[in-house]
Order: sequence, then C-alpha cells, then structure tokens
Amino acid sequence: MKLYPTQIGIVDANLIKTHRRTSIYDFNHNGYLSIYNRMKAITIKTPGDANQLQITEVADPKAGPGQVLVYVAATALNRADILQREGKYPPPAGVTDILGLEMAGTVIETGEGVTDFEVGDNVCALLSGGGYAQLIAVDADMLLKLPERMSFTKAAAIPEAFITAFQALHHIAKLQKDETVLIHAGASGVGTAAIQVALHAGAKVVVTASGRKHQFLQDLGAARCIDYRTKDFAEAVLDETNGLGANVILDFVGGGYFGQNLKAAALDGRIVSLAALGGARVEKVSLAPILLKRLQLTGTTLRSRSKAYKKQLVADFRDQIWPHFADRSLRAVVDTIYDWESVADAHKYMEANANVGKIVLTIGE
Ligand SMILES: NC(=O)c1ccc[n+]([C@@H]2O[C@H](COP(=O)([O-])OP(=O)(O)OC[C@H]3O[C@@H](n4cnc5c(N)ncnc54)[C@H](OP(=O)(O)O)[C@@H]3O)[C@@H](O)[C@H]2O)c1
Repeated sequence: MKLYPTQIGIVDANLIKTHRRTSIYDFNHNGYLSIYNRMKAITIKTPGDANQLQITEVADPKAGPGQVLVYVAATALNRADILQREGKYPPPAGVTDILGLEMAGTVIETGEGVTDFEVGDNVCALLSGGGYAQLIAVDADMLLKLPERMSFTKAAAIPEAFITAFQALHHIAKLQKDETVLIHAGASGVGTAAIQVALHAGAKVVVTASGRKHQFLQDLGAARCIDYRTKDFAEAVLDETNGLGANVILDFVGGGYFGQNLKAAALDGRIVSLAALGGARVEKVSLAPILLKRLQLTGTTLRSRSKAYKKQLVADFRDQIWPHFADRSLRAVVDTIYDWESVADAHKYMEANANVGKIVLTIGE
C-alpha cells in the first residue's frame, strides 16, 4: 500500500476510540477513495540496543483463508527478540519483521474456511513474528482457546516456552517416566516450562541456574539446583544420580558446556541443543563418551520449522499438555508485566538475566 502524504487525513474518531486504531483515507491510482486502517506496533528504528524500539503505525494485517484476525491484549518476550532487534536473527522468509513469537487476545474476524473459531473467542498462539502489535493475522491451526479464567497476561506467556519444552522433551528426546532430566538455564522462560513438563511426565529434574533463583526453582519442583558459577555441574549431576548421569539434557548454553554435558549424560542419554547463550564453539573435547555411552546429540529451532510441522506439534500440544493448564497442574510462570510503552525497559531486564520465567508486555492504545 502506498500513501500520499498530501492526501492523507484521519477519519472516524469512534474507530480510534473503540479499536485503538487510526483510519487513513487515500485516493488510489484510479482516483477512488480507499480507507486503510493503521494499527500500532513496536518497530525497530535501526538494529541495535533496546532504545531502538518504538511504537509506530503500520498497515493492518488481513486474515487470509484459514486465518483469523486477533485483537492482541498481551505478548511476551523471548531471547530471540533481542537477537532480532540487534539485527542478528532475521525473520524467516515471508514473515513480518515485527517482533513477537507469541500473543494472547480476542478473535475479531475469521477468514474463509475457518470453522473451529469464531469472533469473540479468547485465544493465544505460537507465532513466527508479529506479536508486538495491536492486531495479528494468524493461521487458525496455531490457536489455543483459553480456558475460563485464564488471563491474557498468563496466556501470552505460554506458547513459545511450553511448546519448545514439549517439543524438546517429548518429540525429540522421548522422555520416559522416572528418567532424570538436566535443564540448563532452568530459570529462563523455556527452563521454567521444561521443569513443569518434565515433572508432569514423571521425570526427576536437575537444573543449573544462578544461585539467587534456586529457591523458586526448588518450589517449582526441581530436585536439585546447581549454581553453574560456583559448582562443576557434571559432578553434581553424577552425585545426584548415584553416578548414573542424566538421561536427557536440555542445553541452552553451548560451547563451554559441551564436554561437561558428555560427562553428565547417562548411558543412552539424549542431549538436545536449543541455544548457544555461552558461545557456539567447542574446543579440545574428547568424542569418546558419545560412542561409549551411545549418546544422541540433536539440535532444533522452532521458529524455522515448516507450517506442517508446527501444525502437528501444536495439535499434539493441544491434546497432551494444554488441558493441564485448565486443571491447574501446569502454570505460566510470569516474572514481570510491562506496559508496551516500557518495552525498552523490558528488553533491558531480560538482557540483565534478571527474570525467573517470562516477561510479558501488555499491548496498549
Ligand atoms: N531452539 C529453539 O527452538 C528455542 C525456542 C525458544 C527459546 N530458545 C532459546 O532458549 C533460551 C532461553 O530462552 P528464554 O527466552 O526462555 O530466555 P530467558 O528467559 O531470557 O532466560 C535466559 C537465562 O539464561 C541464563 N543465561 C544467560 N546467559 C547464560 C550463559 N552464558 N551461561 C549460562 N546461563 C546463561 C540466565 O539465567 P541465570 O541467571 O540462571 O544465569 C538467563 O536469565 C534462549 O537462548 C533462546 O534463544 C530456543
């Protein structure tokens, strides 16, 4: 859409008031009047620090076939947002460059062929981008209907962390009852979700996290919390498991942890690499434990998966995990809620590693 500044005017004050959006009229190339709705979204001035984030007006998304249009109430931060803001993690081809990998809100329009959802449904969803905005057009396959009494701020904190944890523990690592799981960055959004999903499967959970976060993680159900800054985590895991090691390891740290993960892993252990917060290079590590312990090393990124893969993953999550938020055996762990005007502070808070669980942004006027 091209707008001609001299012909632009703001119309329909009611729409602005009720829908928090601005309508702009314009004359198209044939000279006819067109009306474009403009929503607000958080955009990036230039790739860089948190102060580059700003609220601006952009064109409304439209619900295509099989999609719904959602009026967004809340979104949540993910580490990937920081990398994308810095220009180090571009969105996949065809995906909006607006940040935001999850959101919760209300369906205000359904596209052609959508039968499972209707206007007025409160939903949340996993996204490939676009959650930091007042409106999002999202495939109906990605939606989860909110149980009664679940708030938008809680719901927005669930999709990315819990679906990542579910994918890693169940789809990839095939976690079994009574196994031991080592979860690095246990206090992260994904870590706090993974602790709950693993416990729910009947596994024992050991985590690494900085010391001041341990009490919370113990209360969440971790059998042992290891301060990776002061302790050799591999020794602590072997001690906790009578020398057997962890059957599954979720690793977000990478580089320096590689050799220690091999040491901490049990026979037939599965190590799932999800991020490289501590660097991606590995040096001077013996590969012998991989052979001797018959280890499986895998890695994954959720965002770049195909639509078909995500559709199946979300369907499995909807069947196996989602009902447990309604029966309250699983819960969103929300550390802090920021208004979107304070998005820069929210990003700085995450960059300071201050959070335990998720940081949520409410979407405003
Ligand atoms: N592959 C995928 O599909 C996928 C999907 C979602 C997320 N992720 C990744 O999962 C990780 C967690 O995401 P999130 O959004 O949940 O993160 P988050 O809430 O920001 O938590 C990250 C935590 O990791 C710890 N940490 C940071 N740097 C570290 C380092 N160098 N060594 C050890 N611990 C470190 C910090 O806790 P302490 O205070 O305990 O150090 C920090 O609070 C991110 O790296 C993200 O990119 C991957």
